[in-house]
Amino acid sequence: MKIIITGGAGFIGSHVVRLFVKKYPTYEIINLDKLTYAGNLNNLTDINKEKNYRFVKGDITDAHFIQNLFENEKPDAIIHLAAESHVDRSITNPLEFVQTNVMGTVNLLNAAKNIWKDRLGTLERNCLFYHVSTDEVYGSLDEGGFFYETTAYSPQSPYSASKASSDHFVRAYHNTYKLPTVVSNCSNNYGPNHFPEKLIPLFINNIQQKKPLPVYGKGENVRDWLYVLDHARAIDVVFHQGKIGDTYNIGGFNEWKNIDLIKVICRIMDKKLGRVEGESEQLITYVTDRAGHDLRYAIDATKIMEELGWKPSLQFEEGIEKTIDWYLENKTWLENVTSGEYQNYYQEMYEKK
Ligand code: NAD
Ligand code: DAU
Repeated sequence: MKIIITGGAGFIGSHVVRLFVKKYPTYEIINLDKLTYAGNLNNLTDINKEKNYRFVKGDITDAHFIQNLFENEKPDAIIHLAAESHVDRSITNPLEFVQTNVMGTVNLLNAAKNIWKDRLGTLERNCLFYHVSTDEVYGSLDEGGFFYETTAYSPQSPYSASKASSDHFVRAYHNTYKLPTVVSNCSNNYGPNHFPEKLIPLFINNIQQKKPLPVYGKGENVRDWLYVLDHARAIDVVFHQGKIGDTYNIGGFNEWKNIDLIKVICRIMDKKLGRVEGESEQLITYVTDRAGHDLRYAIDATKIMEELGWKPSLQFEEGIEKTIDWYLENKTWLENVTSGEYQNYYQEMYEKK
């Protein structure tokens, strides 16, 4: 089986690529990535030379390029992760999110539909378009309740609106052209290789450097955190066993108020860095809230657990400790990604706060 994984140089994509390359030596894995500011081939140095792995630099918004690539490679399956993924950036530059997340996804769907035209409509599982999506498409919850696979979409940010739109296109291609598709909607991931513009790696980095920790609003927003390798394991399970045309929610039943999570990170880091208990908490700085900030996300992951037998392998306490250790042991990785374009962007954002 030949699989094109898009966005394989990014945070989650790199863990998915590694898992598939190592676990399935008979599969041919092609990592298709544009290498935007978020794409980093250093995430994959350990598998770079594996025989069943190849990297192709390319842009999913380039329809001509994608069509040619698909015709030449004739993949049997696509696992689509490439996206613009940061909510704050979507507020500053929504069009880029429409281009990449909506147009890019439709280009991939078209190319898949074209090369698989003789395979469509059969009941055999002989090709698959797997679209990786997010819980944010369901909108924002108050204090109670969960997102189910049946929850109506209600995206509230330009990022989630672009992801919701791409999900709709995937389902439309399944319904209209009988393209074999599957969609999964996952909660917030954390773990190694997470780009340090997102809450957890940004705060780990700032604590190390004794820089302020910019908490949006009152820090009362709630997110449901899942260790990135558990997401990769779930993608493996859905890819192989998920029902064609179906949707699977992925999450760890692990909700944290931002401020509580931040205090846990501060406490662990004080210990690891040999600082006085409470020292890092002093860095907490309340800043202007994110525009349209979703209050709470909470995934009900019962379906994937009961139907496909997946469950998270790590408790949060273990996962966050592993994550902090990884960042402390991989300072060069952090230095590399915090230079260049990202640094300029971060400076601008930070000066505004
Ligand atoms: P990321 O920003 O770390 O990585 C995105 C990758 O996509 C990068 O390698 C980037 O170079 C690549 N890319 C961007 N535009 C491209 C283009 N035009 N052509 C080709 N490649 C391009 O993102 P992530 O956090 O790893 O998220 C991966 C996917 O999972 C996204 O679709 C995201 O919506 C979804 N998701 C993320 C989370 C999360 O907590 N991070 C949770 C649920 C779902
Ligand atoms: O829910 C899944 C989504 O999780 C993914 O689809 C997105 O790609 C991913 O970026 C993530 O979105 P969030 O907006 O939830 O993640 P982020 O790390 O940006 O923020 C987490 C919470 O922390 C959120 O309530 C905003 C807050 N925050 C974030 C940053 C960067 C702060 O208080 N300060 C910050 O500096």
